[in-house]
Amino acid sequence: MEEKFDAELNRDDHPFSTEELADALCRGDALCPTVTDALGSECFAPGLRAGIVANFGVGCEHIDLAAAHRHGLVVTNTPDVLTDCTADLAMTLLLMTARRAGEGERELRAGAWRGWGPTHLLGAKVAGKTLGIVGMGRIGIATARRARHGFGMGILCFSRRPAPESVLGELGAVQVDSLDELLASVDFLSLHCPANRDTRHLIDAPRLARMRPAAHLINTARGAIVDERALAEALRRGRLAGAGLDVYEREPAVLPALLERSNLVLLPHLGSATAETREAMGLRVARNLERFFAGQPPPDLCGNPGFGGHRG
Ligand code: DGY
Repeated sequence: MEEKFDAELNRDDHPFSTEELADALCRGDALCPTVTDALGSECFAPGLRAGIVANFGVGCEHIDLAAAHRHGLVVTNTPDVLTDCTADLAMTLLLMTARRAGEGERELRAGAWRGWGPTHLLGAKVAGKTLGIVGMGRIGIATARRARHGFGMGILCFSRRPAPESVLGELGAVQVDSLDELLASVDFLSLHCPANRDTRHLIDAPRLARMRPAAHLINTARGAIVDERALAEALRRGRLAGAGLDVYEREPAVLPALLERSNLVLLPHLGSATAETREAMGLRVARNLERFFAGQPPPDLCGNPGFGGHRG
């Protein structure tokens, strides 16, 4: 960025306050936020200078797209390049919760391991089980591929848009018409839908109650999709065998009731956290900026504002 632009960098990676974000939009021609920078409507005031918000990440729910578009900004993201690593992390959580890997590691590090035992930390076998995918976009499909081809799992899915027939055929997957049907039919449920008004607390207490008591829930999408209190309670009551979370409603805060549950694997939002992916995300941001400032439509537009060229 410094080579190509007159860049001001957030060197200590602190999440910007509303004032800092509003100020950056008034002083810079472009702003490159991350998922931790909440760009609500109050950040977009009349007279701002920026013409583009080039997000470093694929999810854009932390940006008020309507407000940005109203003020004439385009918003871009970084799709594709984090698909594989996020799907890998969904499988990491699936395997960890199934095989009680977090519990085992904590026990060993605490010096509490008493040796091999026939019934010690028995988990659930993964091969041959059924994985339910909510949201068959890029990451949902990549996760289903890993589960099917790598672990011999059966795939059921539920998605707003129909998954391509070719993908369903390749995976031997069945797309069901209702989420409730999916919940009742799977051993593992992995969430890959976007966070928005429609998906807030999509997995709430009644929906958790529909899942099999032996089932596991995986969330690498966004924290707000799951009612965390209801999840902690379902795990406490043994209504669900386990869960694996990479994302939380109020990051970096984690609900204390979740921290108390041993049958829950908790990772700190690592989905895209590989050197290769983070570099690719950065290059994608740079490409969006370059196209924008060359007067061309950036390739990764979010929403559909139309492209009117940049301000200056
Ligand atoms: C994204 O890109 O939306 C991730 O959650 C942050 O890496």
